[in-house]
Amino acid sequence: MKLIIINGPNLNLLGKREPEVYGNKSFEEYFTELQFKFKDVQLEYFQSNIEGELIGKIQEVGFSYDGIILNAAAYTHTSVGIGDAIKAIDSPVVEVHISNTYQREDFRHVSHISASAKGVILGFGLKSYDLAVQSFL
Ligand code: DQA
Repeated sequence: MKLIIINGPNLNLLGKREPEVYGNKSFEEYFTELQFKFKDVQLEYFQSNIEGELIGKIQEVGFSYDGIILNAAAYTHTSVGIGDAIKAIDSPVVEVHISNTYQREDFRHVSHISASAKGVILGFGLKSYDLAVQSFL
C-alpha cells in the first residue's frame, strides 16, 4: 500500500501557526509518529505553498499510488485547478482538514475538492490524517 500525504500552503508552519486552531506539533514530528504506527504502509509526505507544485505532485503520483491524502489548506476553498487535477487522475483522494471548517468563516465552507474526493475527514486535529490512512486499509 503506497500512500502520500500532500499538504498545501502554510501547513509547513504547523506547531507555530495559530496553535489554538492547529495545535502545537510540527507536521514533521507527527509524520514520524504516523510512519511508526503504520509500518506496513509506504507513507510519503509532500508540502508546498505553491498551487502549481501541488497540481504537479497530484499528477505525478495520481496514476500509480494507491491513494492521496490531501489537505489543500486555503486552496481547498479557491482552487478549481486542484479540483480538476483530482478529477483527472486514477488514485482515490481523501480530503483532510485539521480544523472543523464548518465551524469557521463562511468562505471555509466551500471546497473544490470534496465533490471529487472519495471521502472527507475534518475536525479531528492531526488525528484526521491518521483516520485518513485507516480509511485506505
Ligand atoms: C485547513 C483549513 C483551511 O480553511 C485553512 O486555510 C488551512 C488549514 C485545516 O486543515 O483545517 O490552512 O485546511
